[in-house]
Amino acid sequence: MLDLLYPLARTLLFRIDAEKAHHLSMTGLRAAQKSGLLEMLASAPASKPISICGLNFPNPVGLAAGLDKEANTIDALGTLGFGHIEVGTLTPKAQEGNEQPRLFRLPEHQALINRMGFNNPGIDQGLANVRSSNQFQGIVGINIGKNKITPNERANDDYAIAFEKAYPWADYITANFSSPNTPGLRDLQSEESASKLLLTLKSLQQRLCKETGRYVPFALKVAPDLSDAQIQGLSQVFFDGGLDFLIATNTTISREKIQGHRNSQETGGLSGAPLTDRATEVIAMFHQHLGQEIPIIGAGGIFSASDALKKKQAGASLVQLYTGFIYRGPSLIHEIIRAW
Ligand SMILES: Cc1cc2nc3c(=O)[nH]c(=O)nc-3n(C[C@H](O)[C@H](O)[C@H](O)COP(=O)(O)O)c2cc1C
Repeated sequence: MLDLLYPLARTLLFRIDAEKAHHLSMTGLRAAQKSGLLEMLASAPASKPISICGLNFPNPVGLAAGLDKEANTIDALGTLGFGHIEVGTLTPKAQEGNEQPRLFRLPEHQALINRMGFNNPGIDQGLANVRSSNQFQGIVGINIGKNKITPNERANDDYAIAFEKAYPWADYITANFSSPNTPGLRDLQSEESASKLLLTLKSLQQRLCKETGRYVPFALKVAPDLSDAQIQGLSQVFFDGGLDFLIATNTTISREKIQGHRNSQETGGLSGAPLTDRATEVIAMFHQHLGQEIPIIGAGGIFSASDALKKKQAGASLVQLYTGFIYRGPSLIHEIIRAW
């Protein structure tokens, strides 16, 4: 039923400002979940279990980070059929993010540009929200980042604070060091900075695992704008540092595919269809270096089962959706699960 209603809802939502439409949808989803209406309207989630890093994902399709930044809509999003939900990015302290408007639609390209800038309620409130979700049976990933005011020299302190707090509540943790909307963040993808970050998180993970008796795997999330040499260099760093898995990719700063569009010059990260092929290429290159040892979750411009299967062929063990989900709605989740 939702599959039929979504095109109408989308038409109405696309008439209002993108960020307002987002908040309206999330509020509506939570209300529909609470009343039981969402469960009545949603298709029954298909089961196609996949195990990676000791985690049992009920199906291969997850929600990418950035949609549920506050981690307060997990149960409703789970009802729509996602097998895993990555909340955040959450930073140690709450922050407002960039000035609005900061989210732009490019419907002619099936794309979005965002420069949200990690607007989030902070890790403590985010985790309180995670704890109050009690219906979702799938996997919850907690995506962490650094505050804008923290200089890069102290970035690892921010990641360590958020990692330690998230550990008891996460099925997995992702350190996001590839958003284009926090000044200097992507510099942390240099081999030197990445190996220091990995060292910090790995030793924390070892200590917390001993203390809690529970191993929580962690991922790093990379940009699609890395060169071949950077991909090769980072792959070695990931091996040496014992990374559990990788998420590829975040949004792109390239505007090559959207030249001439009225919004093409907005700064921020571009997502959606213009990113599809590049994200698949980056997954394939990382997979060539990492093999089966470090699994990859593929994201970037998935709009159909065929897009998802190309990510699988390139080496992705699972996929995540953001922009395709906005344009296509929940039917996309089920279409991919059936085809996987
Ligand atoms: C509005 C918006 C906000 C995002 N915020 C985050 C974020 O906070 N953290 C993160 O790791 N990725 C964030 N992303 C990136 C997505 O998780 C995803 O990696 C990227 O958009 C590529 O997938 P897509 O083409 O399916 O959207 C955001 C994307 C969008 C469109």
